[in-house]
Amino acid sequence: MKTELATPSGESPLTLHRYPHRKNETLQAFDAADEYIIEHASTWQLEAGARVLILNDQFGALSCWASAMGYDVVSVSDSVVSQQATLENLRQNQLPYIELIKSTEPLPKRFDAVLMRVPKSSKMLAWQLQQLASVTTPATRIVAGAKAKEIHTSTLNQFEHWLGTTITSLAKKKARLIFVTANALTQKPTEPLSYVDVPEFSMHLANWPNVFSAKKLDIAAYLMLPQIPSSNEERKILDLGCGNGVLALQAARTNPQAYIYAVDESHMAVASAQHNLESHGIDPGRFECSARDCLTDFDHTDIDLVLCNPPFHQQQTITDHIAWQMFCDAKRVLTTNGALLVIGNRHLGYHTKLKRLFGNVTVVASNKKFVILKAVNAQI
Ligand SMILES: C[S@@+](CC[C@H](N)C(=O)[O-])C[C@H]1O[C@@H](n2cnc3c(N)ncnc32)[C@H](O)[C@@H]1O
Repeated sequence: MKTELATPSGESPLTLHRYPHRKNETLQAFDAADEYIIEHASTWQLEAGARVLILNDQFGALSCWASAMGYDVVSVSDSVVSQQATLENLRQNQLPYIELIKSTEPLPKRFDAVLMRVPKSSKMLAWQLQQLASVTTPATRIVAGAKAKEIHTSTLNQFEHWLGTTITSLAKKKARLIFVTANALTQKPTEPLSYVDVPEFSMHLANWPNVFSAKKLDIAAYLMLPQIPSSNEERKILDLGCGNGVLALQAARTNPQAYIYAVDESHMAVASAQHNLESHGIDPGRFECSARDCLTDFDHTDIDLVLCNPPFHQQQTITDHIAWQMFCDAKRVLTTNGALLVIGNRHLGYHTKLKRLFGNVTVVASNKKFVILKAVNAQI
């Protein structure tokens, strides 16, 4: 695994790591698309102090390069993990800090150049392009990049529609660039929120564009809903990796005296969960939604129930390390005899992981594809 990113202008290479740090990390913190974007942006020869906007930097490669070039950098991200990685990599390389803003915030105005990683979700791409249209002019330099296989005709059409004249580069190390001139006629902007109905549970769920399963309710979430325990006691319930807050909402309803925490690393997920709990009449004094990497800096240790439908991707990479981190963090915050309820595909082997960590695990429900497991933080 390479940790050194050589820069085209020949300064000392950047040392880049993924976040959070893992012993024996095998995955790289930058890829060919980052290298290609940097190579192209170097040809612009922007002055030091030029205003550079970066969208969707993965682990800070683009931000570190732009900071090293002395640009005035604003980086927009939906991911707390990406933002932490960016800060950590800037620090490690002793580079000036940059401005980090959340994906839910409006873009600041006036940029000389834009560097973009094309987001995975086409809804997110549309949302970001229409935001970009309002802060760019035909004079703004714009380059976007991704793995070549992630750039489709529909992707290019979106750039053309929202921003203007769009051409692509040749593929290089399986990455491709998109060059855009922001000269399109102004299009009518769309609303950031879209909605999913779950009539069986009387839910009308709002989703910001980058939220997991924003087009329809995740099947695993749907199977989990009827398995959420109900009680009239005062308890504390945590939805870990809350997405649009569907599990948190159901827990709030079936546990009317409970206090609910909803946590996700995506700013758009947290904003959606906040919106959905409020719009379904849950008293704002009964819940708290926060953006964090698993339960980092979450200081409570009196949680009675953790609900978790874990992710199996980080950015574009399939991985189970986040699920494992979530289980370990859940154990740390659970009160004695508190329980963790997890849903996962059978083949993911969560059963073995939970048994190893908690010393116990029971199957609450299952079908051919999914299994819902319960592990109890038993008294030592
Ligand atoms: C499978 S989705 C579940 C969403 C929702 N709970 C549901 O059941 O529909 C997993 C969620 O975990 C979030 N996630 C991924 N990595 C995370 C991390 N390191 N810390 C917190 N949340 C994370 C994702 O953003 C995503 O919303």
